[in-house]
Amino acid sequence: MFVKIRDMAKYDLNAVAIVEKGVFSSPWPLAAYESEIKKPTSICKVAACGDYIIGYMCVSTILDEAHLMKLAVHENFRRKGVARLLVTEVLDILHDKFSGILLLEVRPSNLPALKLYEKFGFNKLYVRKRYYVTPDEDALVMGLNINRVTPFKDHEPISSPLTF
Ligand SMILES: CC(C)(COP(=O)(O)OP(=O)(O)OC[C@H]1O[C@@H](n2cnc3c(N)ncnc32)[C@H](O)[C@@H]1OP(=O)(O)O)[C@@H](O)C(=O)NCCC(=O)NCCS
Repeated sequence: MFVKIRDMAKYDLNAVAIVEKGVFSSPWPLAAYESEIKKPTSICKVAACGDYIIGYMCVSTILDEAHLMKLAVHENFRRKGVARLLVTEVLDILHDKFSGILLLEVRPSNLPALKLYEKFGFNKLYVRKRYYVTPDEDALVMGLNINRVTPFKDHEPISSPLTF
């Protein structure tokens, strides 16, 4: 089956909530996604494999600052390039219509996410003390200057869609 990256729709939200509960210790309520997908300033994408939602990503933008709020891939589909597809798609959209900085918080203990963000050129900026709960942990704030990067699709074109 092919993986398709597309806009998150209202009918995806139950599936998104299932992945969310499996991944995050403090999951967003479904209403938070419902509100996010309505905002013209947000970019919310899902990775769909047939009828299944196997990953998703949400970014909000305010003037020249964007914030990566959510990125998750179902644990059965990890390390197959799904997050890379989602991040590439969202960065290309940002690159086309936004020229500021994309910020995110990540747990310093979250090696997979740290490696992923470093691969896309995010820099470590500063530490936000006691940002996370369950378990308590500081957050590392990372940033990527969108106007300084070549569109990602030009870096490493995805010639064939991912299949599972
Ligand atoms: C972080 C996460 C989104 C990565 O998703 P994924 O689809 O498995 O990532 P990809 O397969 O696209 O990997 C892309 C790159 O990220 C890095 N990476 C991903 N998983 C990694 C791991 N377990 N160990 C080391 N590097 C890893 C690698 O550089 C990888 O490139 P490579 O496979 O060519 O070496 C996924 O592990 C996840 O959902 N984690 C839980 C939620 C989370 O932590 N979200 C981020 C919150 S800030």
